[in-house]
Amino acid sequence: MNKATILTGITTTGTPHLGNYVGAIRPAIAASKDDNVRPFYFLADYHALIKCQEPERVRQSSLEIAASWLALGLDTANAVFYRQSDVPEIMELTWILTCVTAKGLMNRAHAYKAAVADNEQGGERDADKGITMGLFSYPILMAADILMFNANKVPVGKDQVQHIEMARDIAARFNHIYGEHFTLPEAVVEENSATLLGLDGRKMSKSYNNTIPLFEPEKKLKKLISKIKTNSLEPGVPKETEGCTLFGIYKAFATPSEVAEIRRRYAEGIGWGEMKQILFDYINDHIAPARERYEALLEAPDHIEQQLQEGAEKARAISIPFLREIRKAVGISRISS
Ligand code: TRP
Repeated sequence: MNKATILTGITTTGTPHLGNYVGAIRPAIAASKDDNVRPFYFLADYHALIKCQEPERVRQSSLEIAASWLALGLDTANAVFYRQSDVPEIMELTWILTCVTAKGLMNRAHAYKAAVADNEQGGERDADKGITMGLFSYPILMAADILMFNANKVPVGKDQVQHIEMARDIAARFNHIYGEHFTLPEAVVEENSATLLGLDGRKMSKSYNNTIPLFEPEKKLKKLISKIKTNSLEPGVPKETEGCTLFGIYKAFATPSEVAEIRRRYAEGIGWGEMKQILFDYINDHIAPARERYEALLEAPDHIEQQLQEGAEKARAISIPFLREIRKAVGISRISS
């Protein structure tokens, strides 16, 4: 049987938080242990440059993300785990794809349209003010990430589905002109993976600055959990689980019977202070072993680097010959051998 190739990238601009863990990292690591799939996971560091022009932050984020995935038990024997910038063929493919991509397609990309809408609302005369070509054409870089390894399935958040559709369009256009070379990828949106709420009750997200970092040291984790916003119902008053940030996070970690028990406690009127303590204890116990490995890995950057180099080697064993094929298809090759 042919293994399905699943592929996803993580932009290296931040520190992984509980929402990333539950929504993306945990399912990806589970998939890395599944013999029926061949996962490609990479640090999307060239994507980071689109949003972030702070070199130190990009560097630190790459380190933290790589250490997190390894600490959480990513199976690097089955999965190909690499840094995008270590596979230069991706950048070459980006240009080749750029030359078959309609500008009109990029005009329709959500991220670009949102930036234009911001400018228009802000009364800017130039609707493109502050918008780089990186932001404008980044769906093409993303298409190259995906098409380079002929990924079948691409697990992403809802906000990225349009980019996968664009990658399909670009692949189809290339195949139409130059012959069948690329597999058309499909987006996989984890419908039943939980979306966690953050400290302020909005969706947990880097852009809202309301996150709980996954490997926050114990004391800080406790402090952050104590800061989670709740309503002002007193202990003894029955409480709703629906829409409750504390309950949502607990549910993403606990077993069904533990969740049922907490539901019962809500109905009885558990106090927020007690619930916060329960949540902290649960998450802290769950995360502690990986957190220890994470801290040890941060002290051993050579080990992390070596893993990434091995990943890049596996990736390039595919990308080098495949790019040669693609270059040949478009008429770029040696005149004589
Ligand atoms: N742009 C994606 C995000 O912001 C990250 C990413 C880069 C990606 N390249 C990818 C995801 C390729 C899937 C496939 O989340």
